[in-house]
Amino acid sequence: MSVVHIMDHPLIQHKISYIRSEEVGTKEFREVVGEIAGLMCFEATRDLKLQDVKIKTPISETVGKELTGKKLAVVPILRAGLGMVDGMLSLIPAAKVGHIGLYRDPETFEPVEYYCKLPADCDEREVFVVDPMLATGGSSTAAIQMLKEKGVKRIRFLCIIAAPEGVERMQKEHPDVDLYIGALDERLNEHKYIVPGLGDAGDRIFGTK
Ligand code: URA
Repeated sequence: MSVVHIMDHPLIQHKISYIRSEEVGTKEFREVVGEIAGLMCFEATRDLKLQDVKIKTPISETVGKELTGKKLAVVPILRAGLGMVDGMLSLIPAAKVGHIGLYRDPETFEPVEYYCKLPADCDEREVFVVDPMLATGGSSTAAIQMLKEKGVKRIRFLCIIAAPEGVERMQKEHPDVDLYIGALDERLNEHKYIVPGLGDAGDRIFGTK
């Protein structure tokens, strides 16, 4: 069974509460989503493997640590996931970036794929899938399935707000994928929006409506 990490860092909690408000405009919303993504990336990379490395400082020789193991990739689910990419890359700048485009069919609420472009060596990378909102879990489970079909073996999923319904579906369909969640909300409403949530993350990041 996957591990669900609820990020209880005070800065993450504070910033999520801030952007929930309908009074926060596009510019600020986008900036703070980026900051939250950076903080979440920090937490979600805690267990990356390190190896010893010899260093000669201007004063003496010493042994330090450097990252080892699989290279990284960030894969946002379009379009709202784009809002988290820069924040992630601010901490892991060497990561490659793939894109998966899925939209929710307004009637069935099921995901429909319209775009997929991944790093050629994505099957050798550890992939961080990002989407600010985990609602029904339809898009995220489909995106992860697409990655697995391309041979990706190690996947983590990061979202800012999740509904219990989405978490349950992710754990059922992808028990090997750990979840990093900023806030676990109450439920979905009849339109499959997260309650209390923050509204439509894509519209709020890009100023569309
Ligand atoms: N996607 C969003 O942007 N918001 C929700 O509440 C649910 C899905």
